[in-house]
Amino acid sequence: MGGRTREYCILFSFLTLLALSSAFQGKKQYKPCKRLVLYFHDIIYNGKNAANATSAIVAAPEGANLTILAGQFHFGNIAVFDDPITLDNNLHSKPVGRAQGLYVYDTKNTFTAWLGFAFVLNSTDHQGTINFLGADPILAKRRDISIVGGTGDFFMHRGVATIMTDAFEGEVYFRLRVHIKFYECW
Ligand SMILES: *[C@@H]1O[C@H](CO)[C@@H](O)[C@H](O)[C@H]1NC(C)=O
Ligand SMILES: *[C@@H]1O[C@H](CO)[C@@H](O)[C@H](O)[C@H]1NC(C)=O
Ligand SMILES: *[C@@H]1O[C@H](CO)[C@@H](O)[C@H](O)[C@H]1NC(C)=O
Repeated sequence: MGGRTREYCILFSFLTLLALSSAFQGKKQYKPCKRLVLYFHDIIYNGKNAANATSAIVAAPEGANLTILAGQFHFGNIAVFDDPITLDNNLHSKPVGRAQGLYVYDTKNTFTAWLGFAFVLNSTDHQGTINFLGADPILAKRRDISIVGGTGDFFMHRGVATIMTDAFEGEVYFRLRVHIKFYECW
C-alpha cells in the first residue's frame, strides 16, 4: 500500500466515523422538543340536535343523505367540524380553542377517514394554530397523523400527533385525545 493510499484509507475511516456519529446524533432528533395533550369533542348533526351539534355532513354518496352517515363504512361522506378543544376529557370544560376542518371517509372496506384540520388555540397558555393532515384508521387504538406546521406560539413547528378515540357514543358523539409531539420547534 503506498503512502497516498494509506492517507486515503485514514481519511475514509475518519469520514465513516463522522457519518456514523452524525447518524447517532440524528437519532436524538426523534425526541420531541415539545408535547401537548388536548381533547376535542365532535357532535354530529343528526336532524334533531342543531343547537348542540358541532359538525355537519356536507357530502354524501348517491342514495345517502346529509343526516345519517352512509352505509359501506361511510364511504363518500365528508363532514365539516368546528369542535371545542379542552384540556381534559370533559365536554363541558372551558374550551381552550377550536378544532376546525374536515374528515373525509375515503375507504370502502373499513372505517378510515382522511383528516385535514387546524387547532385554533386561544388561551392564556397558547395562542396560535397547529395544522394536521393525514389518514386516520379509526378502528386502531392509536394512530399517528402529521403535524405539518403552525403559527403563533407554534411558528414553524412540525411533528406527529398520536390520536386515540377516548369516547364514542353511537353515530352522534366522539371525543379524540390528541397527543401532540413536536420534533421541530423554533
Ligand atoms: C350535547 O351533546 C352531548 C353529546 O351527545 C351531550 O353529552 C350533551 O348533554 C348535549 N348538551 C345539550 C345541552 O343537549
Ligand atoms: C336519511 O337516510 C336515512 C338512512 O337511509 C333515513 O333513515 C332517513 O330517513 C333519511 N333522512 C332524510 C331526511 O332523508
Ligand atoms: C382570544 O380570546 C380573547 C379573550 O377571550 C378574545 O378577546 C380574542 O378576540 C380571541 N381571539 C381570537 C382570534 O379568537
